[in-house]
Amino acid sequence: MKVLITGGAGFIGHHTAIYLKSLGYDVICLDNLSRSSDEALRVLRSENIKLLVGDVTNYKQLDSVVSSASPDVIVHAAALISVEESMERPEEYVNNNVIGTLNVVRSAARHRISRLIYVSSAAVYGDPIKLPIDENHPTSPKSPYGLSKLFGEEVVKLYCRAYDLSSITLRLFNVYGPRQQLSQYSGVILKFIRSVRENLPLTIYGSGEQSRDFIHVIDVCRAVELSMMSPYVNEVYNVGSGKPISINELANLILNISGCKVGTVYMPPRSGDIIHSYADMSKANAYLGFKPTITIEEGIKELLEVR
Ligand SMILES: NC(=O)c1ccc[n+]([C@@H]2O[C@H](COP(=O)([O-])OP(=O)(O)OC[C@H]3O[C@@H](n4cnc5c(N)ncnc54)[C@H](O)[C@@H]3O)[C@@H](O)[C@H]2O)c1
Repeated sequence: MKVLITGGAGFIGHHTAIYLKSLGYDVICLDNLSRSSDEALRVLRSENIKLLVGDVTNYKQLDSVVSSASPDVIVHAAALISVEESMERPEEYVNNNVIGTLNVVRSAARHRISRLIYVSSAAVYGDPIKLPIDENHPTSPKSPYGLSKLFGEEVVKLYCRAYDLSSITLRLFNVYGPRQQLSQYSGVILKFIRSVRENLPLTIYGSGEQSRDFIHVIDVCRAVELSMMSPYVNEVYNVGSGKPISINELANLILNISGCKVGTVYMPPRSGDIIHSYADMSKANAYLGFKPTITIEEGIKELLEVR
């Protein structure tokens, strides 16, 4: 079975490519390299995975890739992904993520691709009004990024209704794992690990009692593969661990596992931060047969060893 992964040179995309290839899938990646890492490119090369350089916002270019690659499945992961950056540059996010998704879905429908997996985000929920967050929770994004992912979901739904396209939308919670790019917008796990490496205290915004749901990237790859096989299509599924961890607990875990004595410093809370968020995983469990396998302790140990 042939799989085309957009954003295949990004963090989740390249892990998915390697994972699917290891299971015997024929994998091709497409990426405009705007946010890819050298490490991801090196690993794709060493695994002999074909990478095409192209932009999903360019319909002609994308459609000719889909036409010549003729994949059975498209995993659409290409996107700009920072909440903070999207507040500063909203048009860029709407243009890249919404037009990009519209093009991918149009092309998938035109070439009668058997299945489209849309990689969406828990950012579509906004501030939770009940916990855990299930897929019926109202959507109310708090950023142009979240809005662009929600708009993408609507585009997928529309084309599935109109063109008999089969899709699965995965709303990922906080994904972490090896070879994630460190930037000013990176997630808290990467920032804490960098502090440990630099022997600096871990910076916590607010009380640290806010909680998040972290899922290891290999578990995300497993969810993608299960979605390629599942008969329960044209549905949205959460992909998280289903277990909240507070930022204080996370900091202590990283300090304990690393044996580092740098401690923590507290800064004022960041405006717009969600207080608590974690996924209700019963739907993905029931219909995709998905259960996360890597605990946060195992994932952190691995990161401290390899980075
Ligand atoms: N990392 C997370 O915690 C997380 C959480 C929820 C959802 N997601 C979703 O997962 C997907 C992948 O995220 P990631 O963490 O791997 O991010 P990433 O930035 O590492 O990867 C995204 C890739 O898409 C590419 N890209 C961006 N715009 C493109 C375009 N117009 N044409 C072609 N390629 C383009 C980038 O160059 C990059 O390689 C995104 O759709 C994101 O919304 C990620």
